[in-house]
Amino acid sequence: MSKDELFELGTNLDGVDVAFRRDRWAVKGTRAEKRAERSVAFWFALAGLAGLAFGLIYVFWPKDAKGNGIATGWEYAGIDDPGYLMYTVYTPLLGLTLGLAVLSIGIGAVVYTKKFIPEEVSIQDRHDGGSSEVDKKTVVAVLGDSLTTSTIGRRKLIIGSGLFGVGAVGTMAILPFLGAMIKNPWKGGDKAALWVSGWTPDYPGQTIYLRYDTGRPHDIVLVRPEDLDAGSMMTVFPFKEAHRNDEHALFEELRGIRNAVMLIRLRTKDAEGAIKRRGQESFNYGDYFAYSKICTHLGCPTSLFEQQTNKILCPCHQSQFLATEYGKPIFGPAARALPQLPLTVIKEKGPDGKVEEFLVAASDFHESLGPAFWERKTT
Ligand code: FES
Repeated sequence: MSKDELFELGTNLDGVDVAFRRDRWAVKGTRAEKRAERSVAFWFALAGLAGLAFGLIYVFWPKDAKGNGIATGWEYAGIDDPGYLMYTVYTPLLGLTLGLAVLSIGIGAVVYTKKFIPEEVSIQDRHDGGSSEVDKKTVVAVLGDSLTTSTIGRRKLIIGSGLFGVGAVGTMAILPFLGAMIKNPWKGGDKAALWVSGWTPDYPGQTIYLRYDTGRPHDIVLVRPEDLDAGSMMTVFPFKEAHRNDEHALFEELRGIRNAVMLIRLRTKDAEGAIKRRGQESFNYGDYFAYSKICTHLGCPTSLFEQQTNKILCPCHQSQFLATEYGKPIFGPAARALPQLPLTVIKEKGPDGKVEEFLVAASDFHESLGPAFWERKTT
């Protein structure tokens, strides 16, 4: 049986009556047909270019275009910062190129269907049950016929542009996962971004204070032990004295994505019964315990502290950590404890000349912060 006969048999066996069928281009190779082909190729090529643009923006948009240490790219910039415009257009540009690429693929497919797939009106009866061997064979013939009559096989321009467009859109989907392979996250060795935070001293013995965020980077308010009531929590950030007059460094300390720390003052009874991690027995200062605020599941801020149960909650996927047990996860998808910041106090003269106690970090975190990654040794 020829392919056409099998096709007809297939439609008949399926109870399909092809009432009307007409090739879109009875005369092949006309200028109109070529024009139609180019219009499809245009949309696929546009999808490819938009996908390419997405990839270039994603990979090469600078963090610091001016090289002056001030964020002028994808990293957050405040409304008064020089890089504000670059920062504000970054995400919309990604959205625009992604949307344009997907839309162009869709339009290209619709235009192709309208211009090249034969016009057809078919009527089919509904039936139940599985398919017989003959049905399966004829389905293959029908699909083969569809491929032939779609004329895609001889349209090299459309195939090429289609592969370009679909390839670029597919690349967009996996780009975030390839990101770490394109940019070396370990550039800088021990100082690579994943190993350090604002709590990492610039030199051994540097004092790093705990401070509040008042909303104004230059407004430095240090944390004193008496500032918290028992059973309460506050978010604190690092402050290095060397940065006092450096507006940008102060801003970075407050906005650095790995810098936020939950300072918790447990009730004395709870603090006395707290279970500590081996080697980290001295990390708390009295009733004060400090944990990284960056969830070890996917990096959301673990902003909620339940006073009655001493649980720390992450609102993203409901992970719970126990403040009385070294930040250990007790519920939800997070598998690692929240890293604990070692605390101590120093005595210093305050602005009014009186000697006061201030909470400071006794050292850097002893492990890297945030979600797991392959090279991480700690559990
Ligand atoms: S990011 Fe915290 S539970 Fe998922």
